[in-house]
Amino acid sequence: MSTIFITRKIPEEGLKMLEGKYRLKINPADRPVTRQEMLEGVKEAEALLCMLTDRVDRDVIERAANLKVVANMAVGVDNIDLKACTEHGIVVTNTPGVLTEATADLTWALLLAVTRHIVAGDHFVRAGKFNGWAPLLFVGGDLFGKTLGIIGMGRIGQAVARRGLGFGMRIVYTKRERLPLEVEKEFKATYLPLDEVIREADYLTLHLPYSPEVHHLINRKRLEMMKPTAYLINTARGALIDEQALVEHLKEHKIAGAALDVFEKEPKLTPGLIELDNLVLAPHTGSATISTRRIMAEMAAKSIAAVLSGVKPEHVVNPEVLE
Ligand code: GLV
Ligand code: GLV
Repeated sequence: MSTIFITRKIPEEGLKMLEGKYRLKINPADRPVTRQEMLEGVKEAEALLCMLTDRVDRDVIERAANLKVVANMAVGVDNIDLKACTEHGIVVTNTPGVLTEATADLTWALLLAVTRHIVAGDHFVRAGKFNGWAPLLFVGGDLFGKTLGIIGMGRIGQAVARRGLGFGMRIVYTKRERLPLEVEKEFKATYLPLDEVIREADYLTLHLPYSPEVHHLINRKRLEMMKPTAYLINTARGALIDEQALVEHLKEHKIAGAALDVFEKEPKLTPGLIELDNLVLAPHTGSATISTRRIMAEMAAKSIAAVLSGVKPEHVVNPEVLE
């Protein structure tokens, strides 16, 4: 019986697909595995079902003599050393597509929350400070007729754009490869170079995968390019933004606000961040809907079962390993 190391309790539906057929070694604690537990856990395992919070680097891979598949229960795979996996003939899979709509929804929840002061307003009312309607109470930004700037126009970026059309917004985007014209038409989206998107956006939102090439893509210089009335939203990966620069920018009110679901040194927060009042925070919950998390778990389980029975899984991140 093959052993599968599962680094965190996952939705039951995923486990059910594996129980009885494989030996499951599941982290019993309600926290990510420690480095030591990871190194121990992969030693005997033929399969690893891991989370975006697990660092699967070369050391881990070299420790895992029997490993055939790493199934990340996430769409982002920046926590995994893909090169090391490929060199060792290990298939890496992810969970694309299924979390697209949930993540787009959270992006809009954050966008609306920051521009209309939903969190601060809630605290204000609860604190008994609401003494009646006032002309200047919690006034925020408009959406209708404003420009939504999307950096990274893959599945999630497009799902965000579709919602933007419903709010009557103009859509500008940038992407490594420009979209086909018929897709641009569907979203009434205008392609622009990165810096132009940043300059034109009233709401700037990030939807690209993280890699070292895009580390601090939104740096001090690019924050300076933003309109002073603009908002920045990030539901992708924290290190796309220079968080220290963002803290200083928000502190000096050089942009209107920001909303973050992901952090540069997650789960650590850059000092100064939580003191800011023009910022809304979420604990990396982009894909956190009941059905999305269930399907993500099932997809990861299915990928593992496929590899262990010699079948090509559906969502391979390093297809060259199968050539
Ligand atoms: C979430 O951040 C994911 O990559 O699935
Ligand atoms: C996510 O599924 C993306 O590729 O945008």
